[in-house]
Amino acid sequence: MGKVRVKGAKNACLPIMAASLLANGEVALTEIPDLEDVRTMSRLLHILGAEVNHEHRSEKIWLDSRRLITFTAPYGPVRRMRASFLVTGPLLARMGRARISHPGGCAIGVRPIDLHLKGLVAMGASFTMGDGYIDVVAPKLNGADIYLDYPSVGATENILMAAVLASGTTRIENAAAEPEVADLANFLTSLGAKIHGAGSSLIIVEGVSSLHGAGPEKPYRVIPDRIEAGTFMAAAAVTGGDLLIENVIPSHLTAVNAKLKEVGAEVETVGEKALRVRARGRPKAVELKTFPYPGFPTDLQPQFMALLTLARGTSVIRETVFEKRFSHVEELVRMGGRIRIEGRSAIITGRQFLQGTVVRAADLRGGAGLILAGLAARGITEIRGVRHIRRGYSRLVGRLRTAGGRIFIFPD
Ligand code: EPZ
Repeated sequence: MGKVRVKGAKNACLPIMAASLLANGEVALTEIPDLEDVRTMSRLLHILGAEVNHEHRSEKIWLDSRRLITFTAPYGPVRRMRASFLVTGPLLARMGRARISHPGGCAIGVRPIDLHLKGLVAMGASFTMGDGYIDVVAPKLNGADIYLDYPSVGATENILMAAVLASGTTRIENAAAEPEVADLANFLTSLGAKIHGAGSSLIIVEGVSSLHGAGPEKPYRVIPDRIEAGTFMAAAAVTGGDLLIENVIPSHLTAVNAKLKEVGAEVETVGEKALRVRARGRPKAVELKTFPYPGFPTDLQPQFMALLTLARGTSVIRETVFEKRFSHVEELVRMGGRIRIEGRSAIITGRQFLQGTVVRAADLRGGAGLILAGLAARGITEIRGVRHIRRGYSRLVGRLRTAGGRIFIFPD
């Protein structure tokens, strides 16, 4: 049996690092994975004037944002990582203005920000767009009743961070219920924010005048990464393996567990913070739809597609969250996968094996899917575009090898 330990959640630590801009004191965070995106966020906070001490290897970070020098987030970091847009809410709350290079779209979709802006405008902000920047101004932020047309994770987080220092009460209805949103709210509460209902679709925030720090004596520990955990679970299933996955919160993986069991793998909870996944023969074909939490996560769709290319029967994957999250399909077809796209659905006719060849990752989770396909394929698979994968997985190759995978990495 192989063993692997899951690291802190990328999609929790990025908004929490942005939220450190709100603290009137130093903030210490632990379980911060050493990822390209985390380093980008560190650099951005430093550009804004925060003092940042980032210990990559020990996965700790210390921040002090009491002396900010600008409200402008420049093109470089924002283009590299669209989650940079999460500094908008905190900068508005702290400085009354946020001038952010337009985050643009990416390989998985247009990625609009209309819901972010609609919520901030409801709280008293106004914005202009020009010369590639979005300039949001709010001399004063007031509590408001905000309904999100879609439970956007980023919009919920930006509005939540703006609301904690607004005057009055803010209600966010149809809010994103992802665990990472709840973790952000828990972090803000540890700084003195007054938040109710985070992790559900109705979040209520009572604005306070300021937030204190949470220094090294009380470091905030970020939750484990459920998407990384799910990636390892799919890796065990696709290779016919037996893997113990430590440092997980099983309740965050209910949809993933259920789907893996439907595919025919065995998933067993071990103690309170570990799962054991054992493959039992060839996977079975299933229907899979991605949804906002607690539905099946879109960030695990490519990894499960790799698994289903080897299933007995025909599977259908419907991607309901992003409009073009299928960049990995043609690469899996090059490996012998029998997949056709119909709108936002992929129809996958399973086969006995995939054949290794040269493939290219176009985005983070698509790249993870290609790694899983390569681990299961006959022969050697060479995966280009590894920089995408490094954005969201820390030392993935080493950890997969420790878990029993035959995988090597060569410098880009
Ligand atoms: C977060 O992105 C995650 N990123 C994504 O993970 C994840 O896939 C996504 O949530 C969905 O779970 C981080 O947390 C840093 P959304 P986010 O706003 O906030 C539409 C990864 O691989 N929408 O919930 O950008 C949008 O077009 C990344 O780790 C609007 O229409 O996602 C999309 O269809 C990829 N208007 C849907 O909502 C808006 O203003 C979901 O987007 C905002 C979003």
